[in-house]
Amino acid sequence: MAYLLENVVPWGRNFNEYKKMFQLTDEDLLNKIIGFGDGPASFNCEASKLGYKVTSLDPIYQFSGENIGKRIIEIKDIVIEQTKNNANNYVWTELKNLDELERVRMSAMKTFLDDYEKGKSENRYIYHELPQKTPFDDQTFDLGLSSHFLLMYTSLGYDFHIKSINEMLRLCKEIRIFPIVDLDAKESKITNKVIEYFKNNYIVNIISTSYEFQKGGNLMLSIKNMP
Ligand SMILES: C[S@@+](CC[C@H](N)C(=O)[O-])C[C@H]1O[C@@H](n2cnc3c(N)ncnc32)[C@H](O)[C@@H]1O
Repeated sequence: MAYLLENVVPWGRNFNEYKKMFQLTDEDLLNKIIGFGDGPASFNCEASKLGYKVTSLDPIYQFSGENIGKRIIEIKDIVIEQTKNNANNYVWTELKNLDELERVRMSAMKTFLDDYEKGKSENRYIYHELPQKTPFDDQTFDLGLSSHFLLMYTSLGYDFHIKSINEMLRLCKEIRIFPIVDLDAKESKITNKVIEYFKNNYIVNIISTSYEFQKGGNLMLSIKNMP
């Protein structure tokens, strides 16, 4: 099925949020990192400015910055309204209210858009759609990240998740997925099945993090290749 921009809800988080979601230590950040479904997050831009090596993959990178920017403006009020209608599902400590949520998200996405053309020319933003094979050799990266994509969109199904995670583990020594709840902040129907599938041949851990915006969504799944 064609991946159309009018069906996409681009919404991006920043470097500090990624650091907390994935419990990224100074040592982790010195590794070669790849983000799957990074979309309009500013993690790549901010990390690159600090000298770290981050590659981001996402289907939206097939579109121009201008069109991604237009789509962000189209969906912003809808996303804020939906969050307002479900405000009880969120923890309002780091982000104090809807205004702050909008300000922080829009600032992250502006940072991304300002960096987009430069990042593309440096191969930091690469068009790719999971679960397809990526154009990289086995174990090219130390750490692979998926923020607010895998495990969350349960409707993509079990096979999609297993194929996607297998491809991530082909490329990366370790992968981390945050959160492990679904879009309604309920236990993801896929998480336990994924753990069952990988636990015998990989090192699998659920790790508590210092980031919680969706209530109960403060856990990350780490899957490591055996040494
Ligand atoms: C909710 S956004 C999260 C963006 C970013 N990771 C963050 O947390 O700020 C989900 C992202 O998944 C991307 N996505 C959708 N389908 C995908 C696929 N098949 N493979 C990889 N990414 C996909 C979307 O384009 C979007 O950018």
